[in-house]
Amino acid sequence: MARQITPLDYDWKFSRTDHPDNVLAGHDDADWETVRVPHDWAITGPFDRAHDIQRIAKKQADVETDVTEITGRTGGLPHVGVGWYRKRVHVPADAAGRRVRLEIDGAMSRSRVYCNGRLVGEWPYGYSSFAFDVTDAIQPGADNLIAVRLENKDHSSRWYPGAGLYRHVRLVLLHPVHVAHWGTYVTTPAISAASATVNLETTVENHGPATAVTLQTVVRDAAGRAVASGATTQRVAGRGVFEQGFTVAEPQRWMPGQPNLYSIITEVVVDGTVVDSQETPLGLRTLVFDPDRGFFINGRSMKLNGVCQHHDLGPLGAAVNRTALKRQLDILQAMGCNAIRTSHNPPAPELLELCDELGLLVIDEAFDEWATGKLHNGYHTFFKDWAEKDLRAMIRRDRNHPCVIMWSIGNEIMEQWEPDGARVARFLVDICHDEDPTRPTTAGFNGPLDAIKNGLAEAVDIPGWNYQPHNYMTFHQQFPAKATYGSETESTVSSRGEYYFPVTEDVSPIRDTLQVSSYDMAYPPWAYSPDIEFRAQDECPFSLGEFVWTGFDYLGEPTPYAEQWPSRSSYFGIIDLCGIPKDRYYLYQSHWTNRQVLHLLPHWTWPGREGESTPVHCYTGFNTVELFVNGQSQGRRQKRIKMMLGTYRLVWPDVRYQPGELKAVAYDNDGQPVAATVVKTAGPAAAVELEPDRESMAADGDDMAFVAVRIVDAAGNLCPTADHLVTFRVDGPAEIAAVDNGDATSLEPFQADHRRAFNGRCMVYLRSQRDQAGPITVHAESAGLAPARAALVSTPSR
Ligand code: GAL
Repeated sequence: MARQITPLDYDWKFSRTDHPDNVLAGHDDADWETVRVPHDWAITGPFDRAHDIQRIAKKQADVETDVTEITGRTGGLPHVGVGWYRKRVHVPADAAGRRVRLEIDGAMSRSRVYCNGRLVGEWPYGYSSFAFDVTDAIQPGADNLIAVRLENKDHSSRWYPGAGLYRHVRLVLLHPVHVAHWGTYVTTPAISAASATVNLETTVENHGPATAVTLQTVVRDAAGRAVASGATTQRVAGRGVFEQGFTVAEPQRWMPGQPNLYSIITEVVVDGTVVDSQETPLGLRTLVFDPDRGFFINGRSMKLNGVCQHHDLGPLGAAVNRTALKRQLDILQAMGCNAIRTSHNPPAPELLELCDELGLLVIDEAFDEWATGKLHNGYHTFFKDWAEKDLRAMIRRDRNHPCVIMWSIGNEIMEQWEPDGARVARFLVDICHDEDPTRPTTAGFNGPLDAIKNGLAEAVDIPGWNYQPHNYMTFHQQFPAKATYGSETESTVSSRGEYYFPVTEDVSPIRDTLQVSSYDMAYPPWAYSPDIEFRAQDECPFSLGEFVWTGFDYLGEPTPYAEQWPSRSSYFGIIDLCGIPKDRYYLYQSHWTNRQVLHLLPHWTWPGREGESTPVHCYTGFNTVELFVNGQSQGRRQKRIKMMLGTYRLVWPDVRYQPGELKAVAYDNDGQPVAATVVKTAGPAAAVELEPDRESMAADGDDMAFVAVRIVDAAGNLCPTADHLVTFRVDGPAEIAAVDNGDATSLEPFQADHRRAFNGRCMVYLRSQRDQAGPITVHAESAGLAPARAALVSTPSR
């Protein structure tokens, strides 16, 4: 019988009470909460300043002075402490004689996994995927108890890590002869227009007597047509490695913009019967990291227009959801982003599946700490015993994904400043090369001079530079044999829809509102505006590209308000926490795509500012734009003049505000108007408006829809400072999974039926219900405003 995979998503019992009896099958868990996995126990809150408040001694001239209290660094959510999950799983009687494997895509953190009271394994790093052979602990034909103990310590993360069984869990029944866990490895040593050579290495385990095993492998194209196949037979005792080679004629390449995917289906045949099968993704692409000419995929030059992304999904927390993750990637791709750095840890497997499908490149990153810590309870406490296991787990799980282009062994590790840093780097680089010699290793350095001095930068294949646009040329000359790129760039901060005057460059922009101006000229001391990086990339054609910190806002790390509660999520995102683009989105889109971007800021509703200087910035791909206030020209601006503000954005520094209409007209090179955009002064708030991002969801209990909520005036203009409380109700087979408004200081719960608008907007996330199809209506109400409703449908999922 072939492998049988049972997802263990539903009907887990959950408790935060730590007791040794929790592992026992007979323990009474009737009053425990019933939850479904992926589950994040902390995202429902409540927020509290005291949660994981991080006390850090400031050093002055090597003398410890005041202790600083960093609040909200991990989101102000209750992730610290112990959590237990229990689930009864019926294992069929015919499992006798088969192998039973428990697969966990990620558990935050320090997991200890028990079957029927017996410890079957542990895995401390919360971002690793792992699997345990639980055959000896499981009873076929009976109910079995799986119990998982998790524990998060304080001072263990620099961002919100999430808490719990936050990724998928599966039970897999296997014939004694089967493909080992992560047991296939595909490489493509030669690809030309005429043909591609595909090599597949498959590890087969045999838990029974030695026997002849045949591997029957078929390569299928995206339409499912068999394009190559082969069979290999060998005798397997214990464990055997099969090498198979295929030729794919006229290969369809995989790359951003044309993510052509093949798949490899491997069947294990014993005595004429198929006893196991395994699917491996295949993308045919060549990668070149040229020190002088930059990055090439399939021979085509391409700048990495990348973003760094943490793993959380905003108001859904760390609990992975494929639709929510895809929405993030769709929004990023529409901006022109073509690459993701999974800062600073292995991502959910779904991220790589989606990047394969969508054609996004990935730097897969392992660690934020090595043996020397950044935080008291950080990864350094596991490094010695677990670094090799975690790194091998990441690469074995991920190396078949065409989207992965580099392995990052670390971010801003403290070993940059240590004499034997290079030794640790070489240890990790060797592991990467051992598991996958086809991709280069990298790491992100923020102490470049020290990392160069101690040999660390030399030890990785491609050193990544964090916040070093002014030094790319120097590093390029210093490492002529290595490629150069910005592994982390910008760290510009902003709050969606907030504008402050006068408009100036702002380093450490602290304000009483705990918000940051959205003119995109504010950043912490180590950081800078996107314009600076664009210039550096344009001037350094040898650079592979950049990875902006960050694509989306994330929970935790509320720089510049690290010590100011209630700031509890980041201001770094190009897109806010609930997926609404900030102004900056259009700056990237204007530079990274050929779309006809013409975006104006600020909004144009400033009662009390009449006659005052209100600078206007325009993010556009057009070279010439004229600005009008109520029909009166404010002058034309032209791009590409050699000044920093003016090359990538157009600026009218002294526009006198008058209510009415702000209009931009773009001209082509012949002076003909080709595009226009208008921002109108809004009248009093009159209505709520709802706009779902899709018409239908699959009734599978996972699929989601994201409904944008706007407060508008009688003419439908966004009221850009509205903060009305909006209440939601859903009729039909869907639930409200989350609400949010992108305000980094809001302490309202994410799981609720109401939300205040923040600068005129908020979002409701709907989730379908399993096996319940039918029409859905969302209603939104707010006191004094005309209500709104929107219709969707949930369709049978199979
Ligand atoms: C970097 C670090 C990131 C984040 C960022 C904020 O130095 O690698 O994790 O902290 O700064 O600007």
